[in-house]
Amino acid sequence: MSFDLLLRNANLPDGRTGIDIACEGGKILGVEPNIEGEAGQVIEADGRLVAPPFVDPHFHMDATLSLGHPRLNESGTLLEGIALWGELKPLLTHEAVAERALSYCDLAVSQGLLAIRSHVDICDDRLLAVEALLDVKNRVKDYLDLQLVAFPQDGYCRSPNAVANLGRALDMGVEVVGGIPHFERTMADGAASLKALCEIAAARGLMVDIHCDESDDPLSRHIETLAYETQRLGLQGRVAGSHLTSMHSMDNYYASTLIDLIAEADVQAIPNPLINITLQGRYDTYPKRRGMTRVPELRAAGVNIGFGHDCVMDPWYPLGSGDALEVAHMALHVAMMTSREAMRWCFDAVTVNPAKIMGLEGYGLEPGCNADFVVLQAADPIEAIRLKAPRLFVVRRGKVIAEGTPRVSALDLPGRPELVDPSAYAPRVG
Ligand code: FE2
Repeated sequence: MSFDLLLRNANLPDGRTGIDIACEGGKILGVEPNIEGEAGQVIEADGRLVAPPFVDPHFHMDATLSLGHPRLNESGTLLEGIALWGELKPLLTHEAVAERALSYCDLAVSQGLLAIRSHVDICDDRLLAVEALLDVKNRVKDYLDLQLVAFPQDGYCRSPNAVANLGRALDMGVEVVGGIPHFERTMADGAASLKALCEIAAARGLMVDIHCDESDDPLSRHIETLAYETQRLGLQGRVAGSHLTSMHSMDNYYASTLIDLIAEADVQAIPNPLINITLQGRYDTYPKRRGMTRVPELRAAGVNIGFGHDCVMDPWYPLGSGDALEVAHMALHVAMMTSREAMRWCFDAVTVNPAKIMGLEGYGLEPGCNADFVVLQAADPIEAIRLKAPRLFVVRRGKVIAEGTPRVSALDLPGRPELVDPSAYAPRVG
């Protein structure tokens, strides 16, 4: 047999070792030990982890890399971030939005992040950011899947032209319906916005992704309404609740019944750990709440969960690196998911789980899937998260599109003869 690309001796996220992956015509042909044949390119994985690409199910590409324009967020709160974004919006140009987004896409791809769901604000009547990100989506399509959500940042009911603008954005090709019920004027308006937005999605056959209950308010109830509307309209499996941070603060009895409703409606959850841990709890003295939603409990109920990055250097978050392993690392800490089984699952929450949320076709490391994967300088998913492991090769449709250099430890000092691979310190346990 002859292949375009043959990857040898890989460890897979499910624990299989010594696996070869053969690729031809942009697809995976075989995933098994000792594949015989010639190949145009051979990559020796040498016992490294080979994973399907990282997937970010929640991002804001219209705001990314705008840190400091026109000023910094002094309070660090969600609400000042929204106000600051409102100051920046009139200053945006198509070129500037596209340039920042393309820079971020480069950063993402270099780290094996090959699919991103980005919200795009539709409350600017010019829909300038929508046009710019549709342009970017087209320009990056050969190496990154960019899925856009029509996001009424200033409120679907509250912002004067949001109803019309959201329809215009969907007509232009934005493919997911967004919302922000906790930013509407009243709880009733929030519920009304969810009803209307889910009806639009049902009528157009689209997915839904709502910024839902992103507050510390234990009485915020929009996720309950979202689950109800999902069932009423038959949208099971097509709806995601992003953030859900108020669930952290809810009464435990109510939360337990709510989690059952979410699971019953097959609403998927997208916590954003880096952002939730910094934006929530800002009005607390001590103890300060963590703010991230109830990840282990949602998982135990069977809810599909993907971790999002949400922000990188924008009005809401001054840091971020486009590294899904940094996201998983923070999530693991905030949710206290330190059992080995739970840590391995955190790797799934930045790969296969968000791929399901986005409805990505041909995703995975199985014969017939797209030949997309990442070779990491780590032996397994836990080590990859611990080390935020370097990406040695990023492969898309059977072609290497990015390469990284292995990291060496601080022992790499002048005069030291040995370079030490940090993954050499990894315990080889289950
Ligand atoms: Fe967001």
